[in-house]
Amino acid sequence: MNSVVNALEVVLADTYALYLKTQNYHWNVEGQDFKPLHEMFKEQYDDLFEAIDVVGELIRGLGSRTMGTFGDFSRLTNIKDGNKDASAAQMVSDLLHDHEIIGQTLGKASKIAQEADDGVVASYLGSRMAVHRKTAWMLRSTLAK
Ligand SMILES: [Fe+2]
Repeated sequence: MNSVVNALEVVLADTYALYLKTQNYHWNVEGQDFKPLHEMFKEQYDDLFEAIDVVGELIRGLGSRTMGTFGDFSRLTNIKDGNKDASAAQMVSDLLHDHEIIGQTLGKASKIAQEADDGVVASYLGSRMAVHRKTAWMLRSTLAK
């Protein structure tokens, strides 16, 4: 199969897994920072939800069918499941780690798209790398003492 499609499938799986995990933490975060974290996590999963659709449709645009089952996503993703009982600080550092992992997935996929001379996919993946870098910065700043 097309290597750009394969790379996009991993991006899709990681993004879907992080979407679910971020919503898990939106629901379950507790503590004195409940409100800002609950709201920040919602902003993050809203962004991830939009990205999921774009990535799925980029795969369709390349002529392949897009996978759409939890089984496929959990088989391919690099993101570990969330822990609903984690502390607020553990949730933030967990998500920070995941945004860094997705940044690496996107970097690999972007390189494959560039090698395939697919500027459409490469430029979209680059824009997602910027979003994840910004989100990682915000999460890191939340953890600062
Ligand atoms: Fe909500």
